[in-house]
This record gives sequence, structure tokens and C-alpha cells, in this order.
Amino acid sequence: MLKLFKKWLNPTRRPANATAGDIELDKVPAHVAIIMDGNGRWAKQRGLPRVAGHHSGMKNVKKITMAANDIGVKVLTMYAFSTENWKRPKEEVEFLMKLPQEFFPLEIEELIQNNVRIRMTGWKDGLPDYTLKAIEGAIERTKDNTGLILNFALNYGGRKEIIAGVQDMMKDLQNGNLNPDELNESLFSSYMLTSDLPDPDLLIRTSGELRLSNFLLWQLAYSELWFTDAYWPEFTEDLFMQAIAEYQRRARRYGGI
Ligand code: IPE
Ligand code: IPE
Ligand code: MG
Repeated sequence: MLKLFKKWLNPTRRPANATAGDIELDKVPAHVAIIMDGNGRWAKQRGLPRVAGHHSGMKNVKKITMAANDIGVKVLTMYAFSTENWKRPKEEVEFLMKLPQEFFPLEIEELIQNNVRIRMTGWKDGLPDYTLKAIEGAIERTKDNTGLILNFALNYGGRKEIIAGVQDMMKDLQNGNLNPDELNESLFSSYMLTSDLPDPDLLIRTSGELRLSNFLLWQLAYSELWFTDAYWPEFTEDLFMQAIAEYQRRARRYGGI
């Protein structure tokens, strides 16, 4: 652990010529969420089909997971497919849906060796059987791991999540299991798909787009946001560490002073 990123480590371990970008290991964000964007443009720039960008993007996931694991991030949520991405051409959607059955066989052993636990946030309904089988197999194989949680947001949309949560609340109200006066932020959070996770401390979006695109709308209320122009396939460990270092320089006030 940590050997990859010596140059980023805190003052007791960093080399003498280190810069302001150093990571302090006691201030690492517990939950980092990433909008992995720009695969299509990355491919277009190289005269390749969009799906080549998705393939290249897939190859980048383990690298960034290991970087996050190395510095002690607890949860890494990766936006892999939104409820709006079904609008894309059928062939592109199909390619994306086939990536899990390529990704997991390729990477699962190393993820297991590193104690990573796989989970998913999103709706299983609508996913092809082969996609579900790949992700559910990985979830099952890693369920007893106690290290970093690699959480794929797959067939996920923030508004859909909020509506589904409100529907569940209304049912509990009808059944007499919920008293309207009891409702508060933490109870509301318990109806979200991420009820077992802390809210993201840091959101990273690649590709220069400055929007949330329906990602974790409730959970991101007080997250620090960090953007880079790099397309997802070219996002590096160094950029990840830059994001963490900048996060550590921010003052999170939560409305206070
Ligand atoms: C992100 O890359 C991957 C998914 C949304 C599945 P894009 O496919 O959105 O790439 P751009 O934004 O079109 O370049
Ligand atoms: C967000 O990217 C979804 C994922 C990265 C999976 P999009 O490319 O779909 O977002 P928009 O359309 O640019 O807002
Ligand atoms: Mg995009």
C-alpha cells in the first residue's frame, strides 16, 4: 500500500521537494463520487468509434479504484450508466451493457486481493440478464470484503431515486409505519438507495462539463465539487490526487462561519 503515491504523502513521509499538492492521510474524503464523462469525445478526437472510448474508459476504472484504496478512501461511487443514457443508440447501449461481463472477469481477482467490495446503486429492472449476472456475481464474490466499497451507479437517476423514496414513504404512511411529524433529513436519507453509505465528500466530474446530470441529487447537497477538462479515459492517478489535495485545502462550512 501507498508505495505508488509517495510524492503525495503528508509531511512526515513526503520527499523534500514536495509541492502544495500533498495528501494528508488523516483528511482523506471517506466517500468520493465520480462522473466518468467524455468517453465519446475522447474516441472522436482519435478518429475512433464512441464505443472505443467506453472500452478505454472501462480500463481506467481499476487504476483509479486502486489509487483511492491506497490513500484510504472508504467508498468510491462511479457513475456508469444513467436512467437517461437509454436514449442513446441501441448499439451503444448494448456495448455499455456488455462491459460488466468483460470488466469483472478481468479485474475481480485483483479487486479481491485488495479487499474491495463491489456494490451497485440503481435499478436492476431493465438491465439485460448478462449485465445483471456479471455485477451480481461480483457483488456475491466480494460480499465479505471489508475494504473500499466500489459502488457502481448503474441505471441510476437522482430524480427517479427521490420519487421512488417518496413512494415508499407514502406506503409506510398508509400502513401506519410512518408518522409525518417524524420525517426529517436522516429519515428521508434512509429511503434513498444509498441509505447505508455516507454522503459523498467529494464529487469529481471529468470532460469539462459543469453539471450533475441527475447524479445523487439528495446526497450531494454539501459535497465539494471538482472538475477537470480531461476525458475519462485519460484521467490519471495524478489528477485524482490533485482533486484530493484540493479537497483538503477547502473549508467546508455547511452554512456556518
Ligand atoms: C461517459 O462518456 C460514459 C457514459 C455516459 C456511459 P460519454 O459517452 O458521455 O462521452 P461524451 O460525453 O459523449 O464524450
Ligand atoms: C452522465 O454523463 C452519466 C454518466 C457518466 C454515466 P452524460 O454524458 O450522460 O451526461 P450529459 O448528457 O452530458 O448531461
Ligand atoms: Mg457525456
